Amino acid sequence: MKFYSFFNNKKAYMCELMNNHLHFSCRKALEPCCSANVGPAFVKNLSQKESIMDFVKTKKKYIKMLQKGDIPYECKDCVHLKIYEKVNDFRIKKITLNHYTQCNCACIYCTQGNRTLEKIKEDENKPVLFDVLKFINELYDNNLIDTENLYIDFQGGNISCLKNHEEIIKTFLTRGVGTIYIPTNNIVYMPVIENLLRMKKGEVCTALDSGCKETYFKIKQVDKYDKSIENLKRYINAAGNDSIIVKYIIVHDYNDNIEEFKLFLDKMIEINIKIIVIDIDYRDIIDNSFKIPKHYYDIVNYAKKICREHNMDIGIPPYTESVLKRGYSVK
Ligand SMILES: C[S@@+](CC[C@H](N)C(=O)[O-])C[C@H]1O[C@@H](n2cnc3c(N)ncnc32)[C@H](O)[C@@H]1O
Ligand code: SF4
Ligand code: SF4
Repeated sequence: MKFYSFFNNKKAYMCELMNNHLHFSCRKALEPCCSANVGPAFVKNLSQKESIMDFVKTKKKYIKMLQKGDIPYECKDCVHLKIYEKVNDFRIKKITLNHYTQCNCACIYCTQGNRTLEKIKEDENKPVLFDVLKFINELYDNNLIDTENLYIDFQGGNISCLKNHEEIIKTFLTRGVGTIYIPTNNIVYMPVIENLLRMKKGEVCTALDSGCKETYFKIKQVDKYDKSIENLKRYINAAGNDSIIVKYIIVHDYNDNIEEFKLFLDKMIEINIKIIVIDIDYRDIIDNSFKIPKHYYDIVNYAKKICREHNMDIGIPPYTESVLKRGYSVK
């Protein structure tokens, strides 16, 4: 039975992302969620002259629809749909910043489409899609933000290529924020990240995906393995390793071998990284048709064993975990 059929009998529903999340998307729009495979329920293209209240009005309309049992087509089969529970807090608790695509490397798997070096150069001088600060300030002015718990997620391209990133971070720090999460390729050392880490307001995540320069180059198309490692070490020396995460995305035919993974993990132990994340290239798993090979499990099991021995945390994102639970294919 499809997940959606379960909901055909018109109960009242809700979605926490719809209630409390704001996504500035690379469609130049404001959206309630950024799930990779379904949604968003609606896309609100607002000009700079329009007000954040136009987004809030649309969001209220959709919250009511769900409550009445009407599931928007874009939300069908979404794992975030839940049976309605009374909620009184519709303030924004999470903002995802995805309104820029500029980057200084070209990961072959990148969902932002920067997969050639020419594309990176073309993107370099393009303006960001819109001024998010205007809308963010309006949210604060209207008490529409949960300032204590607000979680910021800088997705987008790479933060070092977003020209006004310091102004954006400063606004959050001045007006109230819980945690600022920064996924970054770590090619450029950023004092602003060091400050966030020192203040215990920041989390950094770097997808290194490799244990040597050669594999790094094949995946990222720039020769910056050493630089990225050096910058990780600098952040650790300056602010400790509590909030630094390093990720290994298993990419078919590039780094999906245990030897590479061992090199990676040895390096992590050497530089004193305490949190690693294993993921699988979304391009393979998003439509569920990729048969996970046995050696992917060998990598995951090896990682779990070594991390246990070295007192390191290992994370596997929920969607990837559910794909791994299907079991491996022997072809
Ligand atoms: C588009 S990136 C932007 C942030 C930053 N440039 C970075 O790479 O960390 C956002 C996140 O998506 C992840 N990502 C991008 N494409 C992916 C893919 N095909 N499979 C798995 N993760 C992917 C990146 O590792 C990163 O953590
Ligand atoms: S139910 Fe899913 S698709 Fe719909 S708004 Fe929520 S997260 Fe987005
Ligand atoms: S660093 Fe991030 S934005 Fe840049 S190409 Fe890689 S995944 Fe894409």
